[in-house]
Formats: sequence, structure tokens, C-alpha cells
Amino acid sequence: MKEFFLKSLSKSQNSSTKEVNAILKQKNKIIASDDIDFGQLWEWGDYGLKETSRVETNTKKVIQTELAKKRFLEAYYIEKAGMTFAAKMSLLSESIEEQKLFSHFAAEEAAHFSLIESLLTKVDKREGQDLFIKFLNEVIASGERRPLIFIIQVVLEGWGIDHYGIMERTCKEAEVKQHLKLILKDEASHHGSGVSLFKESDLSESELNYTMEMMGEFIKMARVGPVNLFETFKKHTKISASEFCEVSNAQQETQRKLNYLKNLMQKAGAKKMTQGLEPLFKPDLVI
Ligand SMILES: [Fe+2]
Ligand SMILES: [Fe+2]
Repeated sequence: MKEFFLKSLSKSQNSSTKEVNAILKQKNKIIASDDIDFGQLWEWGDYGLKETSRVETNTKKVIQTELAKKRFLEAYYIEKAGMTFAAKMSLLSESIEEQKLFSHFAAEEAAHFSLIESLLTKVDKREGQDLFIKFLNEVIASGERRPLIFIIQVVLEGWGIDHYGIMERTCKEAEVKQHLKLILKDEASHHGSGVSLFKESDLSESELNYTMEMMGEFIKMARVGPVNLFETFKKHTKISASEFCEVSNAQQETQRKLNYLKNLMQKAGAKKMTQGLEPLFKPDLVI
């Protein structure tokens, strides 16, 4: 069964028949601006970066452009995975109400995907497949209903609200901002329904072990700090690791994210898991 879902998650895009394309166009909104200037969507400080004389103005613009593309590339793979997740959850639902819920979510993830995709028409999509996307796909393919409700809906969609929220609040382009707002509203209901469906005591021993293991992997990815961001800096500047940590506020920002993550788990009543994973909620920067 896992292979079946991995295959579903590895699909790439092909244009379909004229009729199918026309139906999709009717159902999904796209971002009309053909030539988005990625470098102007967010400013330097909107990425949590401090002003520094170590990076020239031109280079800053190059970095801003790359970071904006990276944000959308990651979102592209997240929303794509979201469609498979919602379809799987619809089939695993324990009631018709729950199935209706996940069927609606599947349509919403398709709408999010279309929006993001419309922004990236001329961008090479392969770069967005990082370790986190691999982890996300692995969980969606291998998880059972209850662990998936927790890992994907409670934690990752909750995490997405923080991420999309920062993007939305600081976005400098009105149309993109408006669409991010709509995505954010949907993600809040995906996360909220997950919190209400989840009860830690419902997990079997093997489900609890699986969920803890996957959460441990995810937290480890968060505690190493802004590694992807540093890659971009290394590509375009000669800044040292310690200067980068200072400019990006790496230690504090990583701790903020870990606290947010822990808070998401606590709010969902995942007492055992939060306690078991407690030592991991501290930054362990590898930059
Ligand atoms: Fe989504
Ligand atoms: Fe979602």
C-alpha cells in the first residue's frame, strides 16, 4: 500500500486534454501577474534578516529573489502532497461526515496547488524537493489514520499556519497577499479539525511509537537551524557561519520555532509525546 501512495506522490505535471484544462481553469483561480518580481515580494527584514553591511544591495536583491522562489517551490510540493493526503484520509475516514470533510480539503489543496503553480510557470520545480518534502511524502505514504491526523493536520498544517502567516503579513504585492490570505484561512480549518479529531489516548502502542519516531525526525530537522537559508547565503556571499547566525538570528529563531512546535503538540493534548520528546526542543545548530 505504501508503494501505491509513494507513486501517487511522485507524479509530475503533464498538460491534459483541452477539455480537462478548460474545466480546471474554470474551477481554480490563478495568479494573473505573469511576470512576478520575486525579489520585491518580501524585503530583507521580512525574512527575519538583520541589516548588514557585509552584503551589498545588489546581492541582497539576488538573495531575496532566490528566497521567494524557494518559499513557493516548497509550497508547491506541500500543496501537491496535500492532495494525496486528503484523498488518503477520505478513504480512511470512519464516518461519512469525516469523508465529506476530507473531500472538501482535497478540493482546497488542489486550489492552493493551482495558485502556487501559476506563480512558478517559468521556474524549475526540481529544486523544491528538499529533505522536508521527502519526509512529508514518506509520512503520508506510510502513516495510518490516527498518526496522520496528528503529524500532518495538527503539527505540519499548524506549522504551515505560522509559515504562511509570516508570508501573508509581510507580502508587498496585493494580489499574492490576498491569495495567501485565502490559503491561510483554509489551512486554519485543516489544522483545527485535526486538533478536534485527535486524542492521544486513542493511539495504539504501535501508532504511538510510529508517531513519536516521525515527530522526533521532524523536530531534528527543525533544531538544526536555517540550513537552507545558509545555502543561499553561501552561494551569493562570502559571509562566515557565525556572521550568518548573527544576521539571521539563527539561535533565537530556531528556539522560537521549536517552542511553537511544542506548543502545537501541547495544545492538542499530546502529553506523552511532548514529554518523551522534551530533550529535542532545544536548538542544535549545524551551521
Ligand atoms: Fe494547502
Ligand atoms: Fe492543508
